[in-house]
Amino acid sequence: MKTSRFSPSKDQTTRDFLTVFDLTTREISDIISRAMDLKAQKVRKHERPLAGRVLGLLFDKPSTRTRVSFETAMLRMGGTLTFLSARDLQIRRGEPLKDTARVLSRYLDCLVVRTFGHEIVEELAEWASIPVINGLTDGHHPCQALSDIMTVMEKRGMDLRNTKAAWIGDGNNVAHSWIETASRMGFAMTLACPEGYEPDPGILAKARAQASAPIEVIKDPVEAVRDAHVINTDVWASMGQEDQAEERRQIFMPYQVNEQLVSHARPDAIVLHCLPAHRGEEITEAVLEGPKSVVWDQAENKMHLHKALLEFLILGKG
Ligand code: CP
Ligand code: NVA
Repeated sequence: MKTSRFSPSKDQTTRDFLTVFDLTTREISDIISRAMDLKAQKVRKHERPLAGRVLGLLFDKPSTRTRVSFETAMLRMGGTLTFLSARDLQIRRGEPLKDTARVLSRYLDCLVVRTFGHEIVEELAEWASIPVINGLTDGHHPCQALSDIMTVMEKRGMDLRNTKAAWIGDGNNVAHSWIETASRMGFAMTLACPEGYEPDPGILAKARAQASAPIEVIKDPVEAVRDAHVINTDVWASMGQEDQAEERRQIFMPYQVNEQLVSHARPDAIVLHCLPAHRGEEITEAVLEGPKSVVWDQAENKMHLHKALLEFLILGKG
């Protein structure tokens, strides 16, 4: 439950989604099932469950997919939205996050935040009386992991307990959310990361403590993809790390997802990338555009997953 420091009339059932661990295994399965029904249009078209609700999107980093998929999800569910670029708000001139959170809570029904430090979204959530959704921080990208898993389930079925996923490259925000998802959904995950670029040990330890399948971090990408059903990668320099891009290019080149590396996985393996992709760096054109790639379905599923997530958080449909 959300424990806001704000509203005396606050509904204690209000929930945030800042990391995958904010949801139970059952809740993740239910949200994904609902997203699949919405995608299959099993929900009648005239139903507009979020009519009269307003979503705010407070973004301090660029976005194509997360922004537009949340916006279209909200509109298609009957709601409306307002996009708030952080650089146009009084935050930029020093207005405290706790004041911004309390004011926005008086106007909006839900807030999606994309920012740098994870503590920023935590502070906004602490003071907001409405659900706050993490639309990417330096630490986590939980919405991405859920829609990625929806895509894997579409291809492999709802029970992922016999699935092995490989993560190749940087132990970054998306990797952290995948580690938590592996723990929640009971699938095995092997990450191959260069030394010094492994995932956060605290996130790893917490995920392993609750996991029913191994979550391993190794150095060898070939070993990581061996027998994998799912191969996943992401950019080598995330937003905010642009000044390290050249150095990282040298270090990460052995971690490129190319046809040779993919040949070590299972023949029916699928390749994921949250996009945007840097062709010729973390993934080759041949793999990204090849038969194993599911990246366009993956991108589409962000919208369906966000519809179900907004409904879950705004209407409290647990
Ligand atoms: N995958 C993803 O979050 O993409 P955007 O940065 O375009 O939102
Ligand atoms: N790790 C990337 C993900 C982009 C969607 C970043 O944070 O820039």
